[in-house]
Amino acid sequence: MVIQWYPGHMAKAKREVAEQLKKVDVVFELVDARIPYSSRNPMIDEVIQQKPRVVILNKKDMANLKELEKWESYFKCKGYYPVAIDAKHGKGLKLVEQAAIKATQEKFEREKKKGLKPRAIRAMIVGIPNVGKSTLINKLAHKSIAKTGNTPGVTKQQQWIKIGNSLQLLDTPGILWPKFEDQLVGKKLSITGAIKDSIVHLDEVAIYGLEFLKEHDYEGLKNHYKVDVAIEAENIEWFDAIGRRRGLLRSGNEVDYEAVIDLIIHEVRNAKIGTYTFDVIKEMDV
Ligand code: G4P
Repeated sequence: MVIQWYPGHMAKAKREVAEQLKKVDVVFELVDARIPYSSRNPMIDEVIQQKPRVVILNKKDMANLKELEKWESYFKCKGYYPVAIDAKHGKGLKLVEQAAIKATQEKFEREKKKGLKPRAIRAMIVGIPNVGKSTLINKLAHKSIAKTGNTPGVTKQQQWIKIGNSLQLLDTPGILWPKFEDQLVGKKLSITGAIKDSIVHLDEVAIYGLEFLKEHDYEGLKNHYKVDVAIEAENIEWFDAIGRRRGLLRSGNEVDYEAVIDLIIHEVRNAKIGTYTFDVIKEMDV
């Protein structure tokens, strides 16, 4: 489902998440490990404020692990507890519980000193659509919990799910809006599948993907498509070579550019060419 975020929706989502935050000790901010900056909600710090935070870099299986380590250091420097996981294949789930314990240690020590009884850590997940919130909840819960749909905010009927020995998780995540001011961020959100195809220009997204690969994995790109195109060649030459190699032709032996665009986006998005992190920390102003 494609949702358009209007100011009213955003205010409502923010309000609802703020309401749920009162019930938890720690927030799991879920981002896509391929775009750890671009897949964050633009007002996330204002929403979460000082609440202890575990930043979960999900879809690790499709990301560049070296870049991911740099992002983990970045989030650590900000005072958060980052963990990189692959929710789909259930990898790194234990790290989430361990990080939650560390993030709330001080609070629980204070409670203990006050004579309060030990209790489970309460957590909730927040993030933009498609970063894997439902997948993670289902994996942590060891069962399938109905997807809430990408409606703004959080739905009403909530339950706590027991995870491991020390954690309780709200079964419905807080859904916040993505960044949409910046064109480059939009292309990154699109190439990773975080925003739906209909709201962006697909040719620009495919060109973004192609240019990223030329710069960061020229050999991998050439090998994948079995084409030999110079790095400095125009994008159209790449499209032509890829289209011909893959037999994406129209009548008259013309390259079907729409089909080439779809192919490139699909294959980059699903990590068919390689595993990349498009937010490259040294190229960014963060
Ligand atoms: P959301 O609740 O945040 O909106 O996201 P959701 O869990 O629906 O996940 C969005 C897509 O991301 C799903 O793919 C899901 O399988 C995939 N995904 C989630 N976590 C991971 C991960 O760690 N690695 C990989 N590779 N993919 C992940 P889909 O194509 O929409 O659905 P499906 O065909 O996989 O069921």
